[in-house]
Amino acid sequence: MQKTQAYLKENKDRFLDELFELLRIPSVSADPEYAADVSHAAEWIKNHLEKIGAENAVVEKTAGHPIVYAEKLIDPALPTILVYGHYDVQPADPIELWDSAPFEPVIKKTDRHPDGAIFARGSCDDKGQLFMHLKAFEAMIAAGELPVNVKFMIEGEEEVGSTNLGIYIKEKKDKLKADVILISDTGLIANDIPSITVGLRGLSYVEVEVTGPNRDLHSGLYGGAVANPVNVLCKMIDSLTDENGHITIPGFYDKVEVISDADRAEMAKAPFNQDNFNHAIGIKKASGEKGFSTSERTSIRPALDVNGIWGGYTGEGAKTVLPSKAHAKISMRLVPHQDFEEITELFTKHFESIAPDTVTVKVIPMHGGQGSVVQTNFPAYVAASKAMEKSFGKKPIPVRSGGSIPIVAEFETVLGLKSILLGFGLDTDAIHSPNEHYGLFNFYKGIETIPHFFKEYKTLKKG
Ligand code: BES
Ligand code: MN
Ligand code: MN
Repeated sequence: MQKTQAYLKENKDRFLDELFELLRIPSVSADPEYAADVSHAAEWIKNHLEKIGAENAVVEKTAGHPIVYAEKLIDPALPTILVYGHYDVQPADPIELWDSAPFEPVIKKTDRHPDGAIFARGSCDDKGQLFMHLKAFEAMIAAGELPVNVKFMIEGEEEVGSTNLGIYIKEKKDKLKADVILISDTGLIANDIPSITVGLRGLSYVEVEVTGPNRDLHSGLYGGAVANPVNVLCKMIDSLTDENGHITIPGFYDKVEVISDADRAEMAKAPFNQDNFNHAIGIKKASGEKGFSTSERTSIRPALDVNGIWGGYTGEGAKTVLPSKAHAKISMRLVPHQDFEEITELFTKHFESIAPDTVTVKVIPMHGGQGSVVQTNFPAYVAASKAMEKSFGKKPIPVRSGGSIPIVAEFETVLGLKSILLGFGLDTDAIHSPNEHYGLFNFYKGIETIPHFFKEYKTLKKG
């Protein structure tokens, strides 16, 4: 891979210019207003894949946003790596909290990125990371050193639940035949502490609606005599967790994987600094389920959070009103063995059962998915570990992450393929938040590591 690495060094600056072009396309999947931009991003990636040497590149239409597929099959006797990523991004809101325009990338230094970071929506999640794969591929092709077959499958709906990719993989099982899936859409512990993600949490996401009177009322004429749906919703939400941070939905913990003390002790070896954690997000003190550490609370334990809540008057000034309706969006992060559909049902039943008879409630399931875990003795993990050891000069630590990529579990059940989560973001990169950024070090380290993975994987599969 020497020629490949030399090519990477020589073309470094151009890679960044190209990524900036992709970052300028506001491919927000959640907002229909951006649908044309989402399609534009798909076309851009397809054209780019063609330009760097991929074959049979297509933009596949779906009932939602398109999927980009391309491949380079050099020898049927060689293993095939299927690269997955997503070109869609989260909405930029609240836009006023960005220090620079979200779709106008700029480079700035930060404490954790002294060499500079690219500030733009999608820089880390996931355009910057998926683009590393395109550049690593380009380099291996240009250097004549591509060691295995490659397929690319880049979707535009990850941030909204991957529904159409779920359908696509069921339809294209043959086309997607591979030996392993490679994904860069997660993170590292720190730039000098490499790690590989070996667990993702599952997710159940619901919206709830509480309805009281048939219209907004004057809060003076009616206040005190009519149940206020916002007040009621707040009480109901409050009751969903107890004073120990335990979720109160009956049956919620029944299937939660029990981790042995030995495994917990092993996991606790991963470096973690509570003060840095608090400082980075501006909190005085962490909080969560009693008996578990912060790292455990965000990895091996489930969580329930309100993601948004609204109702009544939220505009300028004061309007005296007793709202007719109250709403909330609630996410439940799940751990291995918890089934997201079962949890959605348990939630719905419980939520309906705790509603006072002064209101009516509706639970609308939005999306979800199962969690996943990766074994550290599986060949692709070993290859990833060796690849990182080469590029970082240190053996990576396996860690479970609190985030979710629900399609990963479907890759396993539908395609029978394991995924390797070789991500390079930092938890402080502000993904989904204003001022999202991605370190230049991380971008280039990722591009450098990927060809090592390809080579190690080929060697391990042969041996
Ligand atoms: N890339 C993230 C997930 C992630 C980030 C995992 C960092 C591990 C470390 C992904 O794009 C994401 O945001 N997923 C959503 C789920 C989806 C169904 C909206 C999430 O976790 O909220
Ligand atoms: Mn992502
Ligand atoms: Mn995301």
